[in-house]
Amino acid sequence: MTTVAARVAIVGTGVIGASWAAHFLRHGLEVVASDPAPDAEERLRADVAGIGADQARLRFVADPGEAAAAADFVQENGPEREDVKHAVIAALDAAARPEVVIASSSSGLLPSVIARGAAAHPERVLVGHPFNPPHVIPLVEVVPGERTSEAAVEAALAFYTAIGKRPIRLRQELPGHIANRLQAALWQEAYSLVERGVASVADIDTAISHGPGLRWAVLGPFANQHLSGGPGGLAHVLEHLGPPTERWWRDLGSVTLTPELAATLVAGVDEELAGRDPAALAATRDAVLDQLLAAKTSHDLP
Ligand SMILES: NC(=O)c1ccc[n+]([C@@H]2O[C@H](COP(=O)([O-])OP(=O)(O)OC[C@H]3O[C@@H](n4cnc5c(N)ncnc54)[C@H](O)[C@@H]3O)[C@@H](O)[C@H]2O)c1
Repeated sequence: MTTVAARVAIVGTGVIGASWAAHFLRHGLEVVASDPAPDAEERLRADVAGIGADQARLRFVADPGEAAAAADFVQENGPEREDVKHAVIAALDAAARPEVVIASSSSGLLPSVIARGAAAHPERVLVGHPFNPPHVIPLVEVVPGERTSEAAVEAALAFYTAIGKRPIRLRQELPGHIANRLQAALWQEAYSLVERGVASVADIDTAISHGPGLRWAVLGPFANQHLSGGPGGLAHVLEHLGPPTERWWRDLGSVTLTPELAATLVAGVDEELAGRDPAALAATRDAVLDQLLAAKTSHDLP
């Protein structure tokens, strides 16, 4: 299996594919990209330029198989639909050299399901799930399916590490992997609090971004909880605050995304962000994230 890739195929160059392309280019890799949309190349070049990556080593080809055949690592970013993933993975698997890893960016599909498209070498298909935007956020969830080889998993972990990512490996495939499931748990309670009329969308955003979200950006939920237990650490917290937390769990909401609830959430976020340009806000968020990441690397953090 390939451990150090020089040329990467990006198949599907929407939001995630373009961001991956910029990240790979910034790390000195060659990128061969493909996407069936008529304006895809123009859009990709504009997105990559907007992120500030040099396009000298970026090539766009019409045929995804041609991109895969030229690559040492394939990152697939097509639409999140099983049928589309099967067709795309089939074409990539037929074209890529057998030892080349095919990683799908899928946010939540199971790698075993995605790999059903690979007739030739399903053992090199896995999920390599980035967090948006991949050119900023280090996390990549590497998820093997039932037929993925150990060599493919290790090659993917080594590849992502070599280009500055912080990959983690899942020991079991499940819908939504890990990080999106954790987000989904939080969203469920956040939506429920809005539905119950406890707080506005804006206040819940404030509660996280000016509260626990600040600590979570530095240390994970377990490490933070350990630190809140004083000398007794997590063991003390679980003993002391575990029983009340169990009572809160029993009161947590379980929501259904009815059209009414969706409309309430959308109205809430529109009110919160009134007059703000989403693109400008995303750029500001990413600039702050860059500063935060730089600060993190200058300290000894786990
Ligand atoms: N947006 C996110 O926050 C996010 C985060 C992590 C992972 N992902 C995953 O990344 C993948 C892409 O999501 P996105 O948000 O970039 O979507 P997107 O809609 O922005 O981009 C999808 C791209 O796929 C192209 N496409 C359509 N049919 C195709 C085909 N047959 N072959 C190749 N490309 C095709 C489209 O033209 C489009 O450019 C999905 O699997 C998604 O789950 C998304």
